[in-house]
Amino acid sequence: MTRRVDLHGDIGEILVSEDEIQSKVVELGRRISVDYAERQLTLVSVLKGSLPFMADLMRAISIPVRIDLMEVSSYGGTATESSGLVRILKDLSATIEGDDVLIVEDIIDTGLTLNYLIRYLRGKNPATLRICTLLDKPARRLVDIPVDYIGFTIPDQFVVGYGLDYGEVYRNLRFVGVLKPEVYSEPA
Ligand code: IMP
Repeated sequence: MTRRVDLHGDIGEILVSEDEIQSKVVELGRRISVDYAERQLTLVSVLKGSLPFMADLMRAISIPVRIDLMEVSSYGGTATESSGLVRILKDLSATIEGDDVLIVEDIIDTGLTLNYLIRYLRGKNPATLRICTLLDKPARRLVDIPVDYIGFTIPDQFVVGYGLDYGEVYRNLRFVGVLKPEVYSEPA
């Protein structure tokens, strides 16, 4: 039988609150605005998980900025494990050649997805390519990736909310939380 999702009731613990996220987004937006003043900044975010972070971050940036969206799916993995095999479902809609590109990510876990994306975007000849992630889970990193802007470093726990999903739900929570263990043990 399919488990019934209880959006708030399924959350065991709030790891990063809505207020903490919002103040961090403001702080990151300020830093990026200073660092990229006089540059040609393009934010590239990766759907679907980065959608809320991208929407909030771009509005916390006070300099002119272009945006573009990609969608990738990793395949061969499970609902909670990335495989590193990445398929591009939606490519950039404009050239980034000569731009100062900042990748906006929701979370870096093993780093395999981002590693693929960096190599792909480097091939498009941006002037610079840097990374901004809301969440960093360094405990599970398999490839070394220099990350320029990190919102929160979190422990090795699978999290949902603020764009992050489990079985495509929980993305619309305004905070980042950990699911109760029983949610994983029943089929979604
Ligand atoms: P990586 O390739 O292992 O770094 O994983 C990257 C992608 O896996 C992220 O962009 C997320 O979509 C997903 N992911 C990794 N950890 C989590 C998590 O704790 N919650 C939800 N999605 C996650």
